[in-house]
Amino acid sequence: MLRDWSDAYKIGIAEIDHQHQGFFAAAHGLHDQILNCAGEHGVEDAIAFLRDYAARHFQVEEDLMRRHGFPGLAAHQQLHAAFFERLDQLVYDLEVFGPSQHLAERALEIAQDWLIEHISCADLDYVPYVDH
Ligand SMILES: [Fe+2]
Repeated sequence: MLRDWSDAYKIGIAEIDHQHQGFFAAAHGLHDQILNCAGEHGVEDAIAFLRDYAARHFQVEEDLMRRHGFPGLAAHQQLHAAFFERLDQLVYDLEVFGPSQHLAERALEIAQDWLIEHISCADLDYVPYVDH
């Protein structure tokens, strides 16, 4: 289900909150492209955008954790890697089956729902280590 961004998802670090909001928007962009079947390039571009955005965002987070000596860095990196594995699976399914309502919903689960869950569990763990 498409959800609106909520300030309740903020973790209190301005740069990260801003990026999470952008990540959310990228997830919605991909969902919309798949649903609208606006053409293969629309979907490909939205995937590429989300992938780049996620990679840059994860890098910022991991650098932050490293700088502040967060002990859960390795486990957190695995969560980030798992995101890309699920995204790759979606790309594969899109290639095989083509865009559909079902895959648009999957994109939301993989990116939007994953992010909400990830913010409220994993990301909150490193906040106490980061002075801001
Ligand atoms: Fe994270």
